[in-house]
Amino acid sequence: MTISLRDARSTALYERALCYLPGGVNSPVRAMRAIGRDPLFVQRGEGAELVDVDGNHYVDWVCSWGPLIHGHAHPAVVAAITEAAVCGTSFGAPTAAEVDLAEEVSRRVPGVEMLRMTSSGTEASMSAIRLARAATGRTKLLKFAGAYHGHVDGLLAAAGSGLATHGIPASPGVPEATAASTITVGWNDHDALVEATERHELAAILAEPMPANMGFVPPAEGFLELLRRRADETGALLVFDEVITGFRVARGGAQALTGVIGDLTILGKVLGGGLPAAAFGGSRALMRRLAPAGDVYQAGTLSGNPLAVAAGLASLALLNSERAYAKLAATTTALADGLHDAARHAGYEDVQITTAPGLLTVFFSAQPVTDYAGAQACDLAAHAVWCRGLLARGVYPPPSQFEAWFPSLAHTPRHVERTVAAAAGAFEELTR
Ligand SMILES: Cc1ncc(COP(=O)(O)O)c(C=O)c1O
Repeated sequence: MTISLRDARSTALYERALCYLPGGVNSPVRAMRAIGRDPLFVQRGEGAELVDVDGNHYVDWVCSWGPLIHGHAHPAVVAAITEAAVCGTSFGAPTAAEVDLAEEVSRRVPGVEMLRMTSSGTEASMSAIRLARAATGRTKLLKFAGAYHGHVDGLLAAAGSGLATHGIPASPGVPEATAASTITVGWNDHDALVEATERHELAAILAEPMPANMGFVPPAEGFLELLRRRADETGALLVFDEVITGFRVARGGAQALTGVIGDLTILGKVLGGGLPAAAFGGSRALMRRLAPAGDVYQAGTLSGNPLAVAAGLASLALLNSERAYAKLAATTTALADGLHDAARHAGYEDVQITTAPGLLTVFFSAQPVTDYAGAQACDLAAHAVWCRGLLARGVYPPPSQFEAWFPSLAHTPRHVERTVAAAAGAFEELTR
């Protein structure tokens, strides 16, 4: 039985949006092209659920692509934003709450003694790279295929997320010299990393310690340690991009979980509690190179915005106990187990599920996926049909094979059950 969505209002809005917004959206992956349908326009979110403009309800596993670890409109986060807004929405001058947030982050994230806030992860990546180049006096960067660090000119080569989703290998508009200063290596490829770090004098090795922009592809045993070692041996800085993993996979992010600590850390998403905020941080010695303490320029009109800082502090306050992380891990595991069972019962064998607390990807692959090439080799057509089947059954998955699901603390066992039942129906549709 094929189920279809009521989507007359979304369709009408999309037609209007196409006249005024390129591709009808403000960020490419929202367009849902990779799963062969038009976008759904959201009316509101409630905890772990989304309601679209046609009145369809969904269990939301995207949660704004990661910031909403407490689900939509958590009362404590909304109250903090409201309270801050009443006092003024932006000052362009320091506030006490910014100091509180920086101190709180530095208590949680290993290696971050000091930080600078920005409004987006892209800006934080761009600024971290500038600082790494200034500190080392070098230009070249090494990144991994399938990693995404925002739409920074020099970091779009072989990038994951929206570029992978839309099959864009790099972007026109990036100067050749900028692209040439980025070396790309396969994730988990030990030999290629050693070779590249021998051959090139690098300012930075830039990595998502638990990459989630080609789907979630965990690091192989010893790979993060190798990054640390090669950075130390060659004088490059190790920059860990924890925009997704920060405060999600553990209280102190992936570095707290793995024990491998970078020289610089990039944070975003959960840090801003659903409002635009990001940051980069590291040792005091390194961070004091930034203006006005030092000579490396970096600035932002809305950096440390009081509403975003209030939302971030409220979000982190709700992430104070190990219990929160145990719950997030339990929800993720229950979801993975349920999806596995649903696939098996439907006789759909070619599925690999990867997880970390608060992260999950269902790869449509017969083999385990360990790198970008493996993610690209997935059965994207089957994944698209399955995602459409989920949407039609009231479950909103990331509409791309190259993205992760984001379980939140608002998801309950009932949400997991509804999702697994929908997944079973969608898998059966595939095997028919
Ligand atoms: C790991 C990672 N780094 C950086 C970014 C860029 O962040 P933003 O979209 O806030 O610019 C993203 C966005 O998804 C990301 O996943």
